[in-house]
Amino acid sequence: MTQGNAVVAGRPMMPPLGFGTWQLKGDDAYRAVSLALEAGYRHLDTATLYGNEDAVGKALAVGGLPRDEVFVTTKFAQRSPGREPEALARSLDRLGLERVDLWLLHYPLKDPGENAAVWDAFLAAADEGLATDVGVSNHSLDQLDALTAATGRTPAVNQIRLNPPLYDPAVVEGHHDRQVVLEGHSPLRPRKPGLAHPAVVEIAAAHGATPAQVVLAWQLAHRIPAIPRSGHPERILENFHATDLDLTPGDIARIDALGKARTRP
Ligand SMILES: NC(=O)c1ccc[n+]([C@@H]2O[C@H](COP(=O)([O-])OP(=O)(O)OC[C@H]3O[C@@H](n4cnc5c(N)ncnc54)[C@H](OP(=O)(O)O)[C@@H]3O)[C@@H](O)[C@H]2O)c1
Repeated sequence: MTQGNAVVAGRPMMPPLGFGTWQLKGDDAYRAVSLALEAGYRHLDTATLYGNEDAVGKALAVGGLPRDEVFVTTKFAQRSPGREPEALARSLDRLGLERVDLWLLHYPLKDPGENAAVWDAFLAAADEGLATDVGVSNHSLDQLDALTAATGRTPAVNQIRLNPPLYDPAVVEGHHDRQVVLEGHSPLRPRKPGLAHPAVVEIAAAHGATPAQVVLAWQLAHRIPAIPRSGHPERILENFHATDLDLTPGDIARIDALGKARTRP
C-alpha cells in the first residue's frame, strides 16, 4: 500500500493516521472517539479485547458521518479455532455496523495449523462481505508466510508494535516484498527514553513541533499507518496535526538510526 491508498486495490482507503482506543473505556472512550472524529480522524482502531466496541459504535452513530468516510478496524483474539463467525457478529452488533473495513486476528495462535484454521475463517468472513479486508496482528514474517502457504491467501495487513527503537528496515521491507501493509501500533510508547530522546526533542524544537508529532510524522514518512491513542483533547488534536509536519531526509535518517537494526553489534 502507498500512504492513503486502499489496503487492497479498489477497496476503501485506510487513512494513514488513525485513532487508537486501547485502555479507553465507557464514557471516556465515547468522548475520546467523538473528539477524534471532530478533530478529523477518519480511521478508528478497536478490538474485542479492549471492551469498548460499544462506545466506539456510539461515537460513530452520534457523529453521524457517512459510513464510507470512516475506516473501522476491530480485532479478535482467541485460543482455539471455531468462534470466529459468532465473534464477528457480536463485534458488528456492538459497533452498530454491517461490516468492518478491517478485521484482524489479534495474536497468532501457538499451533500453526490452528492459526491457519482461524485465518481460513477470517477469509470466509471477508468473502461474506462482513469485513472488507482481513489481516493479522503481532505476526512475524515467518508466521505470515505460513498462513499464505496454508491457505493461498496473504493477510492484507499485519499490525505490529513500531516506534523508533523498534525500527528495523528488514522487517519493513519484508512486508513490502509480501505486499502486506505494515501498520504500526504503540507509536508513542517506545522504550526509554522514549519521546524524551534528545534527537527527537531537537528535531521537534527545530520544527516548532512536539516530540509526539515528530515520531508520528517519522512513521508516516515511512508510509506506515500509525494509530496513536490519547484520552486528552489537546493531545488528540496535537497528534492529528502530525500530518502537517514535513521532516527532512536528515531528520528521518537520524530517527532511523535509533532503530534496533542499527544498534545491534
Ligand atoms: N494489535 C495490538 O496488539 C495492539 C497493541 C497495542 C496497541 N494497539 C493499538 O494501537 C493504539 C496505540 O497504541 P498504544 O495505545 O499502545 O500507545 P500509544 O498511542 O503509542 O501511546 C499512548 C500513550 O501515549 C500518551 N500520549 C498520547 N499522545 C501524546 C502526546 N502527544 N504527548 C505525550 N504523550 C502522549 C497517552 O497518554 P494520554 O492518554 O494521557 O494522552 C498514552 O499514555 C492502541 O490504542 C490500539 O488501538 C494494538
